Amino acid sequence: MAESEPQLTFDTLVSLCKRRGFVFPGSEIYGGIGGFWDYGPLGVEMKNNIKRAWWESMVQERDDIVGIDAAIVMNPRVWEASGHVAQFSDPMVDCKSCKHRFRADHLDGNVCPDCGAVGQFTEARPFNLMFKTFVGPVEDTASQVYLRPETAQAMFTNFDNVVTSMRRKLPFGIAQIGKSFRNEITPGNFIFRDREFEVMEMEYFCKPGTDQHWLDHWVEERLNWFKSLGVRPENLRARAHEKEELSHYSTGTYDIEYRYASMGWSELEGVADRTDFDLSRHSEYSGKNLTYFDEESGEHIIPYVVEPALGVDRCFLVMMYDAYEEEKVRDETRVVLHLNPAIAPIKVAILPLSRNEKLAPLSRELYAALRPHFMTQFDDAQSIGRRYRRQDEIGTPLCVTVDFDSLEDNAVTIRERDSMEQSRVRIEELVAALREKLGD
Ligand code: GAP
Repeated sequence: MAESEPQLTFDTLVSLCKRRGFVFPGSEIYGGIGGFWDYGPLGVEMKNNIKRAWWESMVQERDDIVGIDAAIVMNPRVWEASGHVAQFSDPMVDCKSCKHRFRADHLDGNVCPDCGAVGQFTEARPFNLMFKTFVGPVEDTASQVYLRPETAQAMFTNFDNVVTSMRRKLPFGIAQIGKSFRNEITPGNFIFRDREFEVMEMEYFCKPGTDQHWLDHWVEERLNWFKSLGVRPENLRARAHEKEELSHYSTGTYDIEYRYASMGWSELEGVADRTDFDLSRHSEYSGKNLTYFDEESGEHIIPYVVEPALGVDRCFLVMMYDAYEEEKVRDETRVVLHLNPAIAPIKVAILPLSRNEKLAPLSRELYAALRPHFMTQFDDAQSIGRRYRRQDEIGTPLCVTVDFDSLEDNAVTIRERDSMEQSRVRIEELVAALREKLGD
């Protein structure tokens, strides 16, 4: 895309997402609630498409990975074993003057960014990011549980169940998509950092000593997945973590970073070598044997784990950024989302040329005929040009126009979002033609 294009700001994106029904601020009529967002009618379609594409590539198209869907609330001992109770925290300081709280590692100097007081910060204290709640009728420490901050732990606690029930041999993976919760101190940048978000995680169990190979392999695989969905390669890179950045369970991690127009290179996905940390700790804390019998060597081993972990919301944000274009068409600006058809919320729009009642029956008939095949929208309000623009702005790859000739020749026009090219297709061939153009 040309260098001269305007950069997409957060404000423009947030406004488009709200105006067109992708993402709304959570609990908006009550003034919102920081770090929580609601996906609207188009947003939920796109989010489901992202999850489906990930699941297909991770589980359906492979024979070495299976899926699970575990409970969000787990026995609290899980989080002691995983190290999250002791170590999943950020350093916090309070401003003694205005009482506001900040992440110590996000402050530039000694001056409060809210009230300007100098030298008024308290000592940094760790603040655990896990949300707490209670199970049962008594609210005491014995009934306290956590909302999971990652889905990964259920893949470790179910390791033996999966090996046994699915007769798995190393290397193999367990995948899961689900909600995670973190009481982030500074949520923000729209859906980049939320307090409630969804992750797509896969734990790949392998023999000790092969983990570096699988780490490199999965970094490559994940980069290729984004590229296969049309994310521009020049906006993607893999960056190895510095030692001090590593999570408590990892000896080596790569961030797959994206060049966000508004904030530069930042994390999109993490690919971590979690070693045998989790399985070892769960063996120790639960007293259950979580080893794997290696028939080749005749030994019981604790597998190593390589984990690609991608936030659905962050992936959604990246797809929006990467697809957005303001294009000059004659003396107008056309806003278009060049979303991959697999990700686009609406695949096809039926647009009668006008609201003339002669066009209505055939248009409605086609709308009903296409709905079982594709997520389809019908729109007959305003001029055809404005309706094309509306579909461009939500990333609909194909529009089908019904005109007066259609009533005579049983054919309609397909208009393509990216090229704006139009072609005439016979109605009985419409589904097949649309399917082909969508790459379905
Ligand atoms: N199980 C590994 C793990 O939890 P992480 O790097 O903390 O690793 C994985 O999180 C991914 O989840 C991140 O790369 C990001 O895409 C997403 N993510 C993490 N925290 C998030 C938040 N507060 N809001 C939205 N997405 C988040």
